[in-house]
Amino acid sequence: MATQHFPEGFLWGAATSSYQIEGAWQEDGKGESIWDCFAHTPGKIIDGSNGDVACDHYHRWQDDIALMKGLGLHAYRFSIAWPRILPQGVGAANQPGIDFYSRLVDGLLEAGITPFATLYHWDLPQAIQERGGWPQRFAAEAFVEYADVITRALGDRVKHWITHNEPWCSGLLSHQIGEHAPGWRDWYAGLAASHHILLSHGWAVPVIRRNSPDAEVGVTLNFTVATTAVRTPENLAAVRVFDGYFNRWFLDPVYGRRYPADMVYAYQKAGVLPASGLDFVVDGDLEAIAAHTDFLGVNYYSRAVLKAAADGESFPVDDPEHATLERTDMGWEIYPQGLYDLLCRLHFEYQPAKLYVTENGASYADAPGVDGRVHDTRRIDYLRAHFIKAREAMAAGAPLAGYFVWSLMDNFEWAKGYTERFGSVWVDYETQVRILKDSALWYQQVIADNAVG
Ligand code: FCB
Repeated sequence: MATQHFPEGFLWGAATSSYQIEGAWQEDGKGESIWDCFAHTPGKIIDGSNGDVACDHYHRWQDDIALMKGLGLHAYRFSIAWPRILPQGVGAANQPGIDFYSRLVDGLLEAGITPFATLYHWDLPQAIQERGGWPQRFAAEAFVEYADVITRALGDRVKHWITHNEPWCSGLLSHQIGEHAPGWRDWYAGLAASHHILLSHGWAVPVIRRNSPDAEVGVTLNFTVATTAVRTPENLAAVRVFDGYFNRWFLDPVYGRRYPADMVYAYQKAGVLPASGLDFVVDGDLEAIAAHTDFLGVNYYSRAVLKAAADGESFPVDDPEHATLERTDMGWEIYPQGLYDLLCRLHFEYQPAKLYVTENGASYADAPGVDGRVHDTRRIDYLRAHFIKAREAMAAGAPLAGYFVWSLMDNFEWAKGYTERFGSVWVDYETQVRILKDSALWYQQVIADNAVG
């Protein structure tokens, strides 16, 4: 395969999130988050672990920046823990929490690394949860207060803001499926939560622009490319439902199309929504959610191969027989073509001004061998294949401006605890020693060449 060159100025980065790496869960005035509470509840995390210490990044951020600089990263996507900034979710700000991110940003800029800050990567202040959390409209108002405080403090130096990470996860995985904090299993609450998350995004955009002149502001959505192997009318309808549930429900309102009517109807029919429909939507909400953004952040890992449920009525089901056998340790099918299809679809159907892949990567458990190195060849293969597909999508017109590998380092993988390792840097959780895996060294070369061989 010929070497694929990327355009000059293409941003190569890596991503992390606050709860997954920081630790220091009770330090310097930080308030409790729903993830502190959830992970401390027995039975919620498969290995019984939590993020109390995680990668201890809160204390090791200088070393971690040095690591990033060594890799030649152009950009670093991290998230800000809301309860470090406003321990009670609203009201009094916590200066030491603000100072932590301020130092981090200064350190990144000194190292020549562009900070991409995500405001919400799931660690909602527990105090907001106790007032009902995202299913309540109040949470969206609280988010804007938090966004205002933190962008006033950092807006002079951070010029790339991501309001939310993956509203499908913070809305539905957390409130409908119950796998993530706060662990609810209520579809209506999941839709209400999703709406308030999107609303908080839309309300925050002008606030961020005011506090951070000339900044790029966007949102990161996660996508599962839905397909079927046997193209019967029933299976094609199943694909459309899954796409509506997972992708369009979030994309359409952000791009000014309101909630997809086919899904509203399906939810009403299933009794998920009342006959009156979207009763949590207030006049003006959809206009707010459609606020102009400068880019769309794309998280892509895998696809779903689906078929219609046997009764022809229920939610579509997986069709593992027709998926390929290649999977990462997460059990996610490896399907690089999906990234090409997705980037092209987003470009041609929704026309975002700019795209960034804000997450893509693979979980493999490869550990240091006798030579002390981590030969994570499968991760290199995964990333190479996806980089090439991204480049092809750019050749087809997709305005992709950068790519963030998930993740910079191994970390706390939510309900999977420390059992999954997504890092390009190995973390020994006992000693906090970091080791560059082979994939990190390979990525360093990709960045240096601005090309994938
Ligand atoms: C995404 C999350 C990220 C990480 C990866 C594997 O859904 O945004 O925090 O857990 O999956």
